[in-house]
Amino acid sequence: MEIVRTISKLRDCLDLHRRQGHSVGFVPTMGALHEGHASLVVRSVAENDVTVVSIFLNPTQFNDPKDLERYPRTLEADCQLLEKCGADIAFAPTVAEVYPEPDTRQFSYPPTDSVMEGAMRPGHFNGVCQVVSKLLSYVEPDRAYFGEKDYQQIAVIRRMVDDLGFKLEIVPCPVVRQSDGLAMSSRNTLLTDQERTTAANIYRIMKESRTLGLSVQQTHDYVVDGINDIDGLEVQYFSIVDGDTLAEVSSWDDAPSIVGCITVFCGTKPIRLIDHIRYK
Ligand code: PAF
Repeated sequence: MEIVRTISKLRDCLDLHRRQGHSVGFVPTMGALHEGHASLVVRSVAENDVTVVSIFLNPTQFNDPKDLERYPRTLEADCQLLEKCGADIAFAPTVAEVYPEPDTRQFSYPPTDSVMEGAMRPGHFNGVCQVVSKLLSYVEPDRAYFGEKDYQQIAVIRRMVDDLGFKLEIVPCPVVRQSDGLAMSSRNTLLTDQERTTAANIYRIMKESRTLGLSVQQTHDYVVDGINDIDGLEVQYFSIVDGDTLAEVSSWDDAPSIVGCITVFCGTKPIRLIDHIRYK
């Protein structure tokens, strides 16, 4: 696997592959890689001739500087994992390489980017669109792989890709979970063992809520009350939404696909965990 630091070197490598007619798969990441990322890379390797993985901790998508500061940075271990998964190129640019000038572009795709994470973290999706649009323009992949753990992010990126006319397939990949159900996340490394065990209740309760035959409002309350009753967990929001537009629904008949999206504060630091569950 080649580790590439600059955009021009990346383009040179990819030009060589394209001249041979190779298809390109792309997995954008912020590093601190875990099994969830590995599953995206393995899938890309299986479906494309060349796989590029970017490792770039994008400052413009962090509205809280403390969150950026404590985000885990593990480049060496990341590269070892990517090598094992069969990636061909790790693209790990500096901030100055990606943002030689401040990026002043504004993206707006309501309601996908204005609800839930968009409302709680102003500017977050703008930063995601800034960096993903840049990365897609460097890599020009045939397919880009995103984890469904960040369910809302995929909806926003789909809108941006349509808007900017990028020609690629977006491949959403299922959440990878620990055996107790906790969704794999780079932020999990910031939890103590006890907090990790507690955090597994988030998915357990959401899963339970699917089996009870409750209305949308009752399901909402069941999940929020059940999680808030557990010491060390506090729900920031739980929204039951149309799986495509992300607009809230009030009945199970309101949309062909319905998803519950949740953010929970866990522990004393506290660490913000996100997850979702598909109801239909
Ligand atoms: O999902 C992430 O890790 C990031 O938001 C992404 C897509 C790599 C953009 O920085």
